[in-house]
Amino acid sequence: MEKKFPQDFLWGVSYASHQVEGNSKGNDWWDWEQQGKTKELSGWACDSWNRYPIDNKIVQELGCDAFRISLEWFRIEPQKGEFSEIGIEHYRKLLRDIKKRGLKRVVTLWHWTSPMWFVEDGGWSGENATKHFTSYCQKVMEELGDEIDLFLTLNEPTIPLNKGYLVGIFPPGKKNPFAFNKARRNMIKAHGECYDLIKEMKPSLQVGITQFCNTFETDKFLKPFNFLVKKFEDVYNWGFMSKDLDKHDFWGIDYYATFIFGIKPPFVTRKTTKNRWTDMRWGIYPKGIYEICLLANKKFKKPIYIFENGLADEKDKYRADFIKEHLEFLQKAMTDGAEIKGYFHWSLLDNFEWNQGYRTKFGLCAINKDTMERIPRKSYFEYKKLIARYKKEAIMEENNIKK
Ligand code: BGC
Repeated sequence: MEKKFPQDFLWGVSYASHQVEGNSKGNDWWDWEQQGKTKELSGWACDSWNRYPIDNKIVQELGCDAFRISLEWFRIEPQKGEFSEIGIEHYRKLLRDIKKRGLKRVVTLWHWTSPMWFVEDGGWSGENATKHFTSYCQKVMEELGDEIDLFLTLNEPTIPLNKGYLVGIFPPGKKNPFAFNKARRNMIKAHGECYDLIKEMKPSLQVGITQFCNTFETDKFLKPFNFLVKKFEDVYNWGFMSKDLDKHDFWGIDYYATFIFGIKPPFVTRKTTKNRWTDMRWGIYPKGIYEICLLANKKFKKPIYIFENGLADEKDKYRADFIKEHLEFLQKAMTDGAEIKGYFHWSLLDNFEWNQGYRTKFGLCAINKDTMERIPRKSYFEYKKLIARYKKEAIMEENNIKK
C-alpha cells in the first residue's frame, strides 16, 4: 500500500538572504555584481530585510510547518572578529517572528555569500577559512542557537566550488584546480568542525548540509558507458558529503533536473516528460526526485529532507503540476523505503537568481518592483490546497491506525 506523508512531515518553503534581503553591500556577491559580472544588480532585492514579517505571514497562510531562511555572514560579522549587535538582533527578531507563527525555523549558515574581509583574507581557499567560519558558527550558536530548529551549515557547496573555482562565473572567479581543492577541503573541514561545535552546544539540534543533486543517464548510443555515468553521478552527488558520514544527521537534497549524456551536440541535455521546459530551459522530470531519493536511501540510510525543488516559470504555466507530480513521486519513494521528512519549495518569492539577475522567476509569489508588494501566483494557492489535503490524509491515516 502507498505510504502517506506522516503528520510530522515538514511542509515548507525556502529562500536565502542575499537573494531577498537587499542592500547587501559588504559581501562578495555584491562586489561581484558591481564588477559587471551578473546580468543585473541585486539592489534592494525583495527588501525582505525590512519586510520579513510579511514574508513570514505569507508562509504561515500557506499552511506550512517550516520556513527555511539563511543568515548573512557579513551582517553578523561585518569585520573580522567583530560582531554586530544590530545584525544579530535582526535575525533574533526574524526567527522569533517565524516561531510566533507556529513555524519551525530551518536555518542555513552559509548560502554562498561571504564578507569581503573573509575574501581578502584568502576566502575559502585561504589558510584561515575554517577558523573564520567556525568562529562565525560559534557566535551564531551562542546568540541564536535557541532560535534554530534545524541547522544547515552549507548550501550546495559543490555549486559555488565548481562555478567559483573551476568555471570562474561565480566569485571569486577562479579557474584553478588547486584553489578548488583547497576550498573544497576547507569547506568539508568547516562543516565537520561546526557539526561538533553545534552538537556540543545543543546536542538535540539536527545538523547537516543540503546538496544539489541530479540523476544522470545516457542516450541509447552511449548505453554501454552507463556504468561510467553512474560512477560520475555517485561522486557528483555524494562526493562532498561522504567524507564524514557521521557528521550528517540527515541528507538534504535539492532536486531540480535530470541530465542525459548523448553522442550528438550539445552532448548533455536535460530530461523532460511531456516536453515541458522551464523558463531557464531546464527540463521538467518529476520522476528524478524519486530516483535521487532512492539512491540516497540505498547509500546512506538516513532521513532525507528536500530543501529545494522548484522552477523558473514566470507565467506559472507548469508550477502547480510540477509540485503535484514531484510530491507524488516523493510518496512513491517513501513507499519504496526512503524516509522523507520534509519538502521545501524553492522559492517563496521571485528573487535574485545569482548571475541571471531577476529575469528568472522562481516564486510562488511575484514581486511588484515598484511597491515591493508580494503577489501570490495561482500555484501558491494550489500548493496550499495540496498541503491541506496531505495533512488531512495524515490525520485520517493515523486515526485509522489507532483504531
Ligand atoms: C540555490 C538557489 C537558487 C536555485 C535556483 C539552488 O541551486 O540554492 O540559491 O536560486 O538553486 O537556481
